[in-house]
Amino acid sequence: MTLGYFVTGTGTDVGKTRVSCALLHAFGALGKTVAGMKPVAAGRENGKWRDVELLAAASSITAPYEQMNPYALLPPIAPHIAAEQSGVDIDIAVIRQAYLELRKIAEVVIVEGIGGFLVPLNDHQDSGDMARALGLPVILVVGMQLGCLNHALLTARAVRATGLPLAGWVANRIDPQMIAFEENVLALQYRLECPLLGVLPFERVPDIKRLSTFISLSDIVPGYR
Ligand SMILES: Nc1ncnc2c1ncn2[C@@H]1O[C@H](COP(=O)(O)OP(=O)(O)OP(=O)(O)O)[C@@H](O)[C@H]1O
Ligand SMILES: [Mg+2]
Repeated sequence: MTLGYFVTGTGTDVGKTRVSCALLHAFGALGKTVAGMKPVAAGRENGKWRDVELLAAASSITAPYEQMNPYALLPPIAPHIAAEQSGVDIDIAVIRQAYLELRKIAEVVIVEGIGGFLVPLNDHQDSGDMARALGLPVILVVGMQLGCLNHALLTARAVRATGLPLAGWVANRIDPQMIAFEENVLALQYRLECPLLGVLPFERVPDIKRLSTFISLSDIVPGYR
């Protein structure tokens, strides 16, 4: 069984953290020890990095902070700019090492990317290079809103260009007013050429455990049911 997944999205604020937490719960329900990882987080709120806190809360093991989040940057801006302003050089080898340490203590590691798939991390590498260095199958979170078809199809193409498999995608209903929601899901189901793992409803205050039941792992976990 694959021990990890890289969760990317159609952009920032589309539900990567929410889906990553739901995946952690779903794998946890299979009896696996699970850990979330946010290799690069940008934007401190009240002394904390929100995504890291949420992923830690959804993990079944407690990992050292620097393994879960090797790069914690203060400004809430694009990571390579935040790093530059902080005098930090994001090194993918450091991220890979932290990931390998997490793998020693968790059977499943869910790695949340930052922003969209091609967000730069430094002068010569982007988030896709990080996914490739980790060698993980990718799960694409589509924030269902007007414009998402193009963003989803571009992202799928970018993922496949790295040589990584697209393990599946999740439709996340972030806009409750979206017109022709079902038709848009169908349009992507037809074109993304990978399994739809779940459709998450709009829920302002999420019950992640309940949301995890909307995710089906049967298409990505060998021998599952
Ligand atoms: N299905 C949903 N229903 C209602 N609100 C949602 C849903 N999914 C996400 N949200 C809200 O949208 C915001 C962004 O979600 P989330 O933090 O999961 O996105 P993200 O892609 O991880 O963002 P980032 O790029 O900052 O990491 C959050 O406030 C979250 O609570
Ligand atoms: Mg997030």
